[in-house]
Amino acid sequence: MTIPELLRRHRLVPVVVLDDAASAEPLADALATGGLPIAEVTFRTPVAAEAIARMAAHGGVTVGAGTVTTPEQVDVAVGAGARFVVSPGFSAAVVRRCQEHGVTALPGAVTATEVIAALDAGVDTLKFFPAGTSGGAAAVAALSAPFGQVSFVPTGGIDAVTAADYLALPSVLAVGGSWMVPRAALAAGEFEKVTRLVRESVEAVAR
Ligand code: 3PG
Repeated sequence: MTIPELLRRHRLVPVVVLDDAASAEPLADALATGGLPIAEVTFRTPVAAEAIARMAAHGGVTVGAGTVTTPEQVDVAVGAGARFVVSPGFSAAVVRRCQEHGVTALPGAVTATEVIAALDAGVDTLKFFPAGTSGGAAAVAALSAPFGQVSFVPTGGIDAVTAADYLALPSVLAVGGSWMVPRAALAAGEFEKVTRLVRESVEAVAR
């Protein structure tokens, strides 16, 4: 299954900030048990690459890298086992390096100019970030009018309730967010709480 197909199937992408690589396996278990076997592990902590490697080795979840802003980070992420690479904005160099590795790039875009730049680079699945402060679902709908070939993954300021507004749009494959994997809960080892939040979110978007 391609990454866009996986995103459309699961409809949610947990955006993870891990402070301890040893959380990788229990987190993978919590996601799989909660019914959401996919994760974007952000390059915001020093353990990101090791966490991606451990989650990829775990096998129960599809792992991507997030907050990737340089081609060098793409190399590290792919070397660790990331199958997709998410950026907060658009970088032609990052997209090119993803294409060289044969992994899916999900660059950020919130303006028509950024969407055109991404299309020029050969990418038509985009992260709409930061979604909440960039006009929300209404802005995604407006941007989808001239760009019918583009799929969006809105992320940033979304929760289990507002996710539905975005997911109602045909151009939205999935929404991303950290609400179901709170950093504090991960740091405290509260994986049952994570499983519960994930399960509740999965059930909320299935309604
Ligand atoms: C991201 O990098 O995608 C965001 O930080 C996630 O946004 P959220 O924490 O508001 O869900």
